Amino acid sequence: MKIFIDTADIDEIRQANDLGLLDGVTTNPSLVAKTGKPFRAVLEEICEVVKGPVSAEVVATESELMLNEARELAKIAKNIVIKLPLTEDGLRATKTLSGEGVKTNVTLCFSAPQAWLAAKAGATYISPFVGRLDDICQIGMELIEQILTIYNNYDFDTEVLVASVRSPLHVVEATMMGAHVATIPFKVIQQLVKHPLTDLGLARFLEDWKKVPQ
Ligand code: E4P
Repeated sequence: MKIFIDTADIDEIRQANDLGLLDGVTTNPSLVAKTGKPFRAVLEEICEVVKGPVSAEVVATESELMLNEARELAKIAKNIVIKLPLTEDGLRATKTLSGEGVKTNVTLCFSAPQAWLAAKAGATYISPFVGRLDDICQIGMELIEQILTIYNNYDFDTEVLVASVRSPLHVVEATMMGAHVATIPFKVIQQLVKHPLTDLGLARFLEDWKKVPQ
């Protein structure tokens, strides 16, 4: 499963990239707003650090305007992926962009039929938001299972990008289900590495090492 980081914070992106395990980045308007910097500058900075797919979201709500925005965003770097909302206009724009060979990430997906339509529109990635479903007492990961089954049944190339990840458990379940990508907040990436028994074991080894004659 590929690891994307879900942030627009360049320091977090650099740190995750230094691990050598980062495959891409997803941003959204809320994440960009947190940086306090202009949208284009944020994306340029990210694309200098990460060569894998970097999702940049359109904010227009009408398909023709989405397409104008998408074409401008695509000029920033070769690895920009256009993120579009799962609306009728978003699907129309996705279909057009995929026909032009532009990579797309259809976001704000909360149901299996939505994911099916995004794949039919030729989306490169579908982003189901598991954490936000959990928040309203629906099991987000069940949606991932449904989408993977549907895509597998019809051999869709669209990759399932597990989004709105809140904990290592979401990541583990995503890998067990065979999701293609998870976009993970920096804090959760750090949590994936950590285990108290690793820390304890290492401390003990280092302490015992002092007793070994040098
Ligand atoms: C996906 O691309 C979104 O940026 C993100 O995963 C949303 O996560 P949230 O529900 O924690 O805001």
